[in-house]
Amino acid sequence: MTDFVLVLGVLAAAAAGLWAWRRLHPVSFWYSVGFPARAVLVYLTWHHVASGCKLTRNRRRFRLTLDAVPVVGPASRSAATVVEHKRRVRRVDVERSPRLGILRPTRLGWRMRLRLHDGQVPADYEKAAEGIAHAWRVHSVRVVDVRPGSVTLWATMRDPLVEVVTEPETGELLTVRPGKLENGRDWVIDFRTVPHWLNVGATQSGKSNLANALLKGLAPQPVALAGFDLKGGVEFTPYAPRLSALATTRKESVDLLTDLVGEVENRMATCRAHGARNVWTLPEGLRPMPIVVLVDEVAELFLMADKSEKDEVAKTATALLRVAQLGRAFAVYLVVCGQRVGSDLGPGVTALRAQLSGRVCHRVNDPETANMALGDLDPAAVDTARAIAAETPGVCIVAGQDGSWHRARSVFVSEQSAEQAARDFSHLTPEWDALIGSVPALDSAA
Ligand SMILES: Nc1ncnc2c1ncn2[C@@H]1O[C@H](COP(=O)(O)OP(=O)(O)OP(=O)(O)O)[C@@H](O)[C@H]1O
Ligand SMILES: [Mg+2]
Repeated sequence: MTDFVLVLGVLAAAAAGLWAWRRLHPVSFWYSVGFPARAVLVYLTWHHVASGCKLTRNRRRFRLTLDAVPVVGPASRSAATVVEHKRRVRRVDVERSPRLGILRPTRLGWRMRLRLHDGQVPADYEKAAEGIAHAWRVHSVRVVDVRPGSVTLWATMRDPLVEVVTEPETGELLTVRPGKLENGRDWVIDFRTVPHWLNVGATQSGKSNLANALLKGLAPQPVALAGFDLKGGVEFTPYAPRLSALATTRKESVDLLTDLVGEVENRMATCRAHGARNVWTLPEGLRPMPIVVLVDEVAELFLMADKSEKDEVAKTATALLRVAQLGRAFAVYLVVCGQRVGSDLGPGVTALRAQLSGRVCHRVNDPETANMALGDLDPAAVDTARAIAAETPGVCIVAGQDGSWHRARSVFVSEQSAEQAARDFSHLTPEWDALIGSVPALDSAA
């Protein structure tokens, strides 16, 4: 009896210890206890799960079987039936699951490589991913790192984007960390790698929040910021202390774009004169200050109330496209936000979209918007974007130009904190006129 109590006591103490370890230091608990237990479970259940998700294949195999054969002859004359066991080689169908590689732990789950059966394609695993996630009771399973004949599955135990609390960090020049990726890593926007960004989403999906995070991250850096806000200036006017230029009407937009095109051409001429391919290879003293241009609700730039605005809209579209085409080499970067950026806004929009290689797609109401932002990259990204819930504003799909995409969430940046950053770093705001120097007219430039 006392032994029994002792065993119970030891078990209870062990359980309490594990519970406390998990609470106090979840990371070490995961790597030491949680992951090994999971790995055993995954290996033990993989055949069953693969079969349920229709990833197995039947293979013909020769098997040695022990068959019961009734004995014919003198021995069978007795009352009971006499059987003899004979060894035979038979051809049987054997269900084979895809071969599983070594499970490798990640901070929020694990990765594992799988060998595809002949005739299977990565899309078969993308289709099965949701079923596998349910079978393993994890938040999500995604297919990443496709190689000939194999794929890597990446399982995430829980959604790390439910709460994103870190501050948007400012780092190297033109790099901002506006939030977190689903794999637990920082979401990094580096304008020198991906110069122009398209940021779409339904109303209240988090577009302006991302713009706030970018503004807050860029404010302490030696860059010039410019804004287009044709929603009457309500979004960007509070950030005016850190903006070198702000256009809130169509007329101002045309003027500001004229300046930008002129500035890009000036920089191009400087580079040409010094035999440089881009501003980063210019001698340090000649290197111009990078300009990041934020456009809130791009549709406003393209919509016309009546025919009289047709010329202005055409000029705007041409100039914006020109900035996008030429800006990347000359350190003029665009972040274009909008609820819908479709061909219905005019032919210029589709051409502009092609130049915006960075894509951020927040929650969308219509499949066309998700398609527009991500459809040219990966259909699975479109499906994931469409599944973003309204309760999690700021959650988005981020795609860079390398074709890979991630679920991510920007950290919440209140308008007040972005305004505060704009005021705190207002001394870094360059004067627009001094920045752009002499500027040729848009008509001659375009
Ligand atoms: N990353 C986030 N984390 C938490 N809450 C967020 C996040 N992003 C946005 N929100 C919340 O969602 C609200 C709407 O966000 P935001 O203003 O950025 O949407 P929007 O897409 O710009 O909408 P609209 O098209 O109407 O301008 C914000 O006021 C904020 O409360
Ligand atoms: Mg907004």
